[in-house]
Amino acid sequence: MTYILGLNAFHADSAACLVKDGELIAAAEEERFRRIKHWGGFPSEAIRYCLKEAGIGLDAVGHVAINRDSRASLWRKVAYVVARRPSLDMVMSRVRNRQQWGDLKAQLAGALPEMTFKGEFHQVEHHLCHLASAFLVSPYDKAVAVSVDGFGDFASASWGVGEGNRLTIDGRVHFPHSLGIFYEGITQFIGFPHYGDEYKVMGLAPYGEPAYAKEMEQLVHLKNDGSFALNLRYYTHAKEGSKYEVRDGMPSGGRIWSPAMAELLGPARGKDDALEQRHKDLARSAQGMYENAFFNLLGALHRKYGLDTVVLSGGCAYNSVANGKIYERSPFKHCYIQSAGGDAGGAIGAAFQVWHTLPEGSSAKRSFVMDHAYWGPWATADEIAAAIAARQADIDAANCVVEAIADEGELCRRTATAIAEGKVIGWFQGRLEWGPRALGNRSILADPRRADMKDILNLKIKRRESFRPFAPSILREAVPDWFETDDDVPFMMQVFRIRPARRASIPAVTHVDGSGRLQTVTTKGNARYHRLIAAFGDLTGVPIVLNTSFNENEPVVCKPEEALDCFLRTKMDVLVLGDTMITRRD
Ligand SMILES: [Fe+2]
Repeated sequence: MTYILGLNAFHADSAACLVKDGELIAAAEEERFRRIKHWGGFPSEAIRYCLKEAGIGLDAVGHVAINRDSRASLWRKVAYVVARRPSLDMVMSRVRNRQQWGDLKAQLAGALPEMTFKGEFHQVEHHLCHLASAFLVSPYDKAVAVSVDGFGDFASASWGVGEGNRLTIDGRVHFPHSLGIFYEGITQFIGFPHYGDEYKVMGLAPYGEPAYAKEMEQLVHLKNDGSFALNLRYYTHAKEGSKYEVRDGMPSGGRIWSPAMAELLGPARGKDDALEQRHKDLARSAQGMYENAFFNLLGALHRKYGLDTVVLSGGCAYNSVANGKIYERSPFKHCYIQSAGGDAGGAIGAAFQVWHTLPEGSSAKRSFVMDHAYWGPWATADEIAAAIAARQADIDAANCVVEAIADEGELCRRTATAIAEGKVIGWFQGRLEWGPRALGNRSILADPRRADMKDILNLKIKRRESFRPFAPSILREAVPDWFETDDDVPFMMQVFRIRPARRASIPAVTHVDGSGRLQTVTTKGNARYHRLIAAFGDLTGVPIVLNTSFNENEPVVCKPEEALDCFLRTKMDVLVLGDTMITRRD
């Protein structure tokens, strides 16, 4: 039996996963345990969880695989330092980063002092891990694999062909050119300074016009081979470094655009300034530029390899709007996207890449397919009961009634009825999702038919920007009736157009441009969630619920205690914890 622990460490979205003989056993992001968004550092709690889930100690693990190889692109790095003479700060930050990686053995021993690791360490190049995280767990035997991100191991994009259990990188875009940096720069420029704020620009884009399309072409130059180059006049990272750092577990980017960008696009927006039409136009234009670059790359790769299937990963794989246009704007006909497209996913890529290069894994046919995202911690009925008992006084003070409903059909009918009555439901079931999206196990659910539901959710719980859309979860079999697609979207990684005739009936999940970032739900993928949505469909004729992550400006809740805490401190109406329904009296 071979256990491989896969890690993303010393970087945002630290994570761990455990692979046993080529099958994924467990995976979780460290932020869910530490309760700090995008937590970066050594993922000791996620490792503990993975080992506990498998019922083993570190001594049973044969290999630790990490998604960074400090030796990758070494000559390119040396040549860069000689030619460009970057600042001393930048060089020193790279040296410190490398020391951390070299110290992996000591970090592991220090984080889990009660256990001993006797196996082998493997450093796997960052982008090979991204590609592997998509291809080696996809349902496809042969595909073009593509990763697009900020930077990792001196590259920002890579591609190659995967076949069977073999995957090699055929091309890369190297530092300092990066589509992730392009999108991050614009995100900062429009006044969203926090790490991971790019999705706000994507949500804002449909409110604008592509009035700055020409200016965007000044920022990014597209090449015939599908690659791209930034105009470095508009950026500071090439000379000064990306200023990206992780302090006390919290990653931050630091400003990467230069004063020349304000000369080109007009004044930047401060984070508290009013959001004007100009900013929306900038968002739309930037999204358009990203899509042009993305489809220029996909088009070139299709011409080069002649395959109809593509698998995607890297932070830019979260651009669900671009992903939704793959069949429209590229010749590819099939697609698989890793649910943790960002660097957390590299933990899975590292583990599977190592497995398929070991003697026992390289001879085995690839059989594992990651067709759901439920790889995280779960709570037993006793643990849920204990969590409720511990907060009984607060539950009473909040004037709630607690009911155990053992019959699943009844539980789903009661919950569906509450949703149809306009109530906001906390829904905590089974194993925590892997990746940033709540997919029906740690979700807040509401009625998609109510035009005012977005405001109600923002008022009661989320308090997020009013322009950001909420997402629909839909029964897989109902997809073609409601959307202009008939595709599987299990991880909410693609946005599709809602059929025009249906838009008015689900206003709370219809974005301003008529699109929706859907999650398709099957009985095989999540039986209880499917049953709940079907019950809502029976009641209302709409086989769709609004699904947003179970949290309030914090990482998605992991344990029942955190779900209860979020329920009690917000104005959520109902909390369903496993088979227990807690309802606020009117
Ligand atoms: Fe990455």
